[in-house]
Amino acid sequence: MKDFQGKVAVITGGASGLGRAMADRFAREGMHIVLADVEPDALARTVAEMKAAGAKVIGVRTDVSKAAEVEALAQKTLAAFGGVHLLANNAGVAEGGKVWDNTVADWEWVLGVNMWGVIHGVRVFTPIMLKQGSEGHIVNTASVAGLISPPGMGIYCVSKHAVVTLTECLHHDLAQQTDKVKCSVLCPAYVPTGIADSGRNRPAELSETRHKTAADLALDASLKKAVQSGKLSAADVAQKVFEAVREGRFYILTHPKIKPSIQWRMEDILQERNPTNPMG
Ligand SMILES: NC(=O)c1ccc[n+]([C@@H]2O[C@H](COP(=O)([O-])OP(=O)(O)OC[C@H]3O[C@@H](n4cnc5c(N)ncnc54)[C@H](O)[C@@H]3O)[C@@H](O)[C@H]2O)c1
Repeated sequence: MKDFQGKVAVITGGASGLGRAMADRFAREGMHIVLADVEPDALARTVAEMKAAGAKVIGVRTDVSKAAEVEALAQKTLAAFGGVHLLANNAGVAEGGKVWDNTVADWEWVLGVNMWGVIHGVRVFTPIMLKQGSEGHIVNTASVAGLISPPGMGIYCVSKHAVVTLTECLHHDLAQQTDKVKCSVLCPAYVPTGIADSGRNRPAELSETRHKTAADLALDASLKKAVQSGKLSAADVAQKVFEAVREGRFYILTHPKIKPSIQWRMEDILQERNPTNPMG
């Protein structure tokens, strides 16, 4: 996608973290921004701040795990700006734990936001983008957790591996139909954002989580610390996303140091070895 000025970007999870940074970056290119987020206060604050900085922006309170809310988001986007050219399916939440310990509610919450949120975004917005006949791009936020399988975060990895393969399939499906709409998958490692506090947005009806042992709490604390110690900022990642969209690049791997872990996994599969623990 080369032409951004006056075009429309829809960014889910746009009220904070990576989504907010992408919104700021694409607004700098003169895009009109639709921020979709489930957290009303953060959404209102971000819309106000971006407006004050001169951006053309609206906020639409959206729970991306709900098909009807993503459909309503598309209608509100078209009503406000008449089209959509960039879609960032970025909203996400995290929950740790051993795969057999996670509750049904844990699985439904994390897969609902991270996997179904992307499915709904692709299902609802791609036909609109194809029908427009203009340049467009879809960026799905996965994670390096979509490329490797470390212990203690199976539920998150399942959701992010799903996003990687969904986006790879989307790439092929789009290529068979158009050369105007492209897609990318974003796979960052740790970036300091609110992801380790994503329980703040967990719906009451899916609140039943596992009993957390001292080891679970220690793992939660170490993950939080790891997220906060990330060297790249959300703005750095947003810049890499912008460059990939402009250049039509599919894989956005923001943290090259993680690549040996990805290679071990690939080699383990090809050589039919048992999985290497990427955490050593
Ligand atoms: N920060 C990292 O280290 C990291 C690494 C890899 C991938 N990611 C991914 O990046 C994406 C953005 O997360 P972040 O790190 O900016 O965290 P964040 O918590 O700062 O932002 C996530 C946003 O998603 C919103 N959200 C949560 N549930 C939602 C729902 N049901 N519907 C709509 N919006 C919802 C939140 O309100 C929040 O604004 C996520 O998909 C996350 O999994 C983050």
